[in-house]
Amino acid sequence: MKVLIPGSFDPPTFGHLDVIHRSIDIFEKVLIGVISNPSKEPLFDGETRKLMIEENIETPSPIEIKVFDGLLVDFARKNNIEAIVKGVRAMTDFDYEFQMAQVNKELDDLETLFVPAKPEYGYVSSSLVKEIFRLGGDVTSFVPSSVLERLKHE
Ligand code: PNS
Repeated sequence: MKVLIPGSFDPPTFGHLDVIHRSIDIFEKVLIGVISNPSKEPLFDGETRKLMIEENIETPSPIEIKVFDGLLVDFARKNNIEAIVKGVRAMTDFDYEFQMAQVNKELDDLETLFVPAKPEYGYVSSSLVKEIFRLGGDVTSFVPSSVLERLKHE
């Protein structure tokens, strides 16, 4: 089965990488879709976010990473995706994720599979990482060192 893990990944966190690695263990092919223009102005451009994922994936892996724009269902169809995989941290994520899953099912019969975040990553989010870093806090337990280096240079 070929699945798509879409997201902003601005920047990728240990939580994202955990969902990606667990998906690699389950599915034959995994495509990571990095959205080029997320609703919030991203800190990193799409290609840099793609690179930060690439740098932190164990190789060899049955994985492909692409930057995309437009509707998720269109990107999924062009890439012969059979289902979307999304990580969920808490019930607070669930309302929004459930709504997107239902819309994608309605738009193009695209199924979504949810992977519960590991408890240790349940509170990690890209937005919090950016805020903590900006305010001088330590984010080493949330993001890999290569991401930390790029945060320092932004
Ligand atoms: O990491 P994020 O920001 O939660 O990812 C959100 C993403 C990229 C999955 C979502 O914004 C998306 O699918 N965008 C593409 C546009 C689209 O298809 N919108 C309707 C889906 S309900």
